[in-house]
Order: sequence, then structure tokens, then C-alpha cells
Amino acid sequence: LRLILLGPPGAGKGTQAARIAQKYGIPHISTGDIFRKNIKEGTEFGKKAQEYMNKGELVPDNLVLEIAEARLIEEDCKNGFLLDGFPRTVYQAEQLDKFLQERNLTIDKVLDINVDKEILKTRLVGRRVCRNCGATYHVINMPPQKDGICDVCGGELYQRSDDSAATVENRIEVYNAQTKPLVEYYESTDRLAHIDGAIGSSDVVFNNIVSVLGA
Ligand code: AP5
Ligand code: ZN
Repeated sequence: LRLILLGPPGAGKGTQAARIAQKYGIPHISTGDIFRKNIKEGTEFGKKAQEYMNKGELVPDNLVLEIAEARLIEEDCKNGFLLDGFPRTVYQAEQLDKFLQERNLTIDKVLDINVDKEILKTRLVGRRVCRNCGATYHVINMPPQKDGICDVCGGELYQRSDDSAATVENRIEVYNAQTKPLVEYYESTDRLAHIDGAIGSSDVVFNNIVSVLGA
């Protein structure tokens, strides 16, 4: 099973991706997570990506493609994968298609998660993430049992540096300008499924995704 998760920042891609990956036994590949890991480890790549991420701009396509393709040729991607936050420009999508075609592979489904802008902003500003295992919480919608502590692993929760109100606004604009055209790109191939990401709790959204993908 090869899947792509599309949707604006805060739509719930990361939240749903963790569950989809677990249910269908495929690796969850988030280019954002790969960049954040590089930043934490202080790699050259991380230093380059950080400049863009802090402003809410997209990292240049050549850097993204290098990282994504290196990940996709790893052994665990052989029987499928779930892409979260990649591709994010039409050029990235074209290059991904080319990469897959060369290997006789195709994308099975593209899930486009939709949420209104006002809800996105509230979700992002209230998001907290576990420093240790990456689990995602929300101070109001999905609070941890103990304040500031991860339910899963006991790790410390932090706020992403790009989740400030000003940067969130720019990320949403960048999404509309540069990533939204991908909806049309995939619509033409009838692999696209629209998912209402604000219809209810993350359980409700997940059940709708499962009904699209099959149990
Ligand atoms: P990335 O890490 O991909 O972030 P993003 O796309 O901005 O998405 P988010 O992680 O912010 O949101 P999400 O949809 O995963 O939402 P979540 O599940 O956490 O990218 C970061 C940066 O890296 C980019 O700005 C760019 O610079 C760079 N980058 C990455 N990939 C790139 C690429 N391919 N090309 C170029 N640059 C790239 O949920 C959000 C909140 O809502 C959480 O608090 C959650 O608890 C809550 N929530 C989730 N579902 C529900 C629900 N149903 N009801 C109520 N609350 C909910
Ligand atoms: Zn944790």
C-alpha cells in the first residue's frame, strides 16, 4: 500500500499518519520529521532546512527530493509507505512520479484532509509534541493525562518553533499558493479521496479514512 497524505498545516496529517502506519503496517515518512531530526542533530542539511522552516517557507525542492528519495529506497519501504508532507509542490510530485515509474510502482491513494483556516490556527497554536517519541497532543482538544508529560513514554512535551501565531499564518498562505495545486494534480488520476478533517475527534476522522482504504 502506497499512500500520500495531503492537507494544510494542522489538518491532522501527523495524527492520522501514526494510526494509518500502525494499522496497515507501513512506514510513516514525514519530511518535516526528517528535517527536525537533522536540525536537532546539527547536520549541514538541518542547518540549511532550518532557515526556511523557521519562517514557514518551503525547503527548496532539490534538498527535499534528495532526502525523500534516499528514504524511499530503504528496505522497509519495499512493501509500501505513507508519505506525510511530501510531495508539497507540483515539481516534487512530478519527480516522485518519475522515481516510482522507474521502479514500476504507483501511488494507490492520495488522502486530502480538509480543515477550515480558523480551526487550523487554533490547532497549531495549541499543539504540543513529545520531545522523545514525537506523539502529538493539543492543550484543549487532546490534552495529555499529566500536564506537559507524554502519555506514551513519559517524555517532555514542547511547542514547535514554527507554531507561533505569525508563522502559522504564513505556513497556511504558503500551503494555499504552493501545495494546494497538488489537489488538482492528483484529482486527474482518480486516486484522490477527500477527507473532512474537522468532522469530529481524531477517532472519527480515522474511521472515515479506514472506510476509504478498506479494513
Ligand atoms: P511539516 O512537519 O510537514 O508540518 P505541516 O505540514 O505544517 O503539518 P503539521 O505537522 O503542522 O500539521 P499536521 O497536519 O501533521 O497536524 P497534526 O496531526 O500535528 O512541515 C514543517 C516544515 O518543514 C514546512 O513548513 C517546510 O518548511 C518544511 N517541509 C516539510 N516537508 C517539506 C516538503 N516536502 N517540501 C518543502 N518543505 C517541506 O495536528 C495538529 C493539531 O491538531 C495537534 O495538536 C492535534 O492534536 C490536533 N488534532 C488533530 N486531529 C484533530 C481532530 N480530529 N480534532 C481536534 N484536534 C485535532
Ligand atoms: Zn512520548
